[in-house]
Amino acid sequence: MTKIRAAITGVGAYLPEYILNNEELSRMVDTNDEWIMTRIGIKERRIIKEPGEGSSFVGAGAVLDLLKKTNTKPEEIDLLICATVTPDMQFPATANIICDKVGIRNAFSYDLNAGCSGFLYALATASKFVETGNYKKVIVVGAEKMSSIVDYTDRATCPIFGDGSGAVMLEPTVEEDGIMDMILRSDGAGRIHLHQKAGGSARPASHETVDAREHFIYQEGQPVFKAAVSNMADVSVELMERNNLTSDDIAWLAPHQANMRIIDATGKRMGLPKEKVMINIEKYGNTTAATLPLLLWEWEPQLKKGDNIILATFGAGFTWGAIWLKWSYNKN
Ligand code: UT7
Repeated sequence: MTKIRAAITGVGAYLPEYILNNEELSRMVDTNDEWIMTRIGIKERRIIKEPGEGSSFVGAGAVLDLLKKTNTKPEEIDLLICATVTPDMQFPATANIICDKVGIRNAFSYDLNAGCSGFLYALATASKFVETGNYKKVIVVGAEKMSSIVDYTDRATCPIFGDGSGAVMLEPTVEEDGIMDMILRSDGAGRIHLHQKAGGSARPASHETVDAREHFIYQEGQPVFKAAVSNMADVSVELMERNNLTSDDIAWLAPHQANMRIIDATGKRMGLPKEKVMINIEKYGNTTAATLPLLLWEWEPQLKKGDNIILATFGAGFTWGAIWLKWSYNKN
């Protein structure tokens, strides 16, 4: 029987208009452009300023862009998975809200939370539905309003994160392209270094939790940095080796955008020159589950059918992984 694979057939995105640059940040906390550029590599990030809007605002924007670009009607969609750590509310799922906002009514939809690896996990999950042959058009969207959980009095975390959304369309293909292989991992012991202390069932919101600033991101930068550098590179190299891919075979690395030094280290371990590494951290910062689709969206005009692309992530959980895909279309 011919093998059905899941192929990305379109990419959409939505970025909030407001730009928070390092100059403005340095008026909020004791920091400066030089420190942020040298230690992290971020110049500016986008922030949702629209009152009352959450992640579904940018998520719906990205999905609408995707539907338009791929000339798809909302009723053609079978499934939508939204990767996010900043859902509009605890329930219902932000995926349900996005579907409602864009008019997707014949599908099922749910959220997936895997920290900064959310989009990678969601892409892996969605690809398995497509491979059954029963799902013809599936959307995977990463949507985040990280500014809703960033503590803008904590100089160690507030420069890192930004808001935004990217979405891809997945469809079945019987050609030699699409999602070829993947390695996904998690280690819950890493949670002590990166989490949100309150607001979940273990520690519900109270005056005390608000006063203690426990609804913001808690991160111990160095242990997260160390684990990110080794784990993201390890799985990427393992994926290359087990598929006999050399650095010459790889057209692009799309790495999670958390820190320029982590991106550089991963590219180096894989033996890739910098020209093959997608980087947009300077403009958008770390948009958590939106980073990978935003890279694909920005690079889409340059991607060619058959290009070998490695997507690699590391994030809260800890969660990490890599996906090898062969790009499925030429834009023009
Ligand atoms: O996407 C989820 C996964 N997250 C990540 O991958 C993040 C991984 N971690 C990192 O990217 C880095 O650890 C950070 C960017 C968070 C921090 O960089 P670092 O090089 O590990 O800095 P550090 O925390 O060791 O701090 C070094 C110094 C400290 O000062 P002292 O104690 O040496 O005097 C900090 O207080 O830098 C100081 N510092 C700052 N200075 C100016 C910390 N933040 C700032 C700041 N501006 N914004």
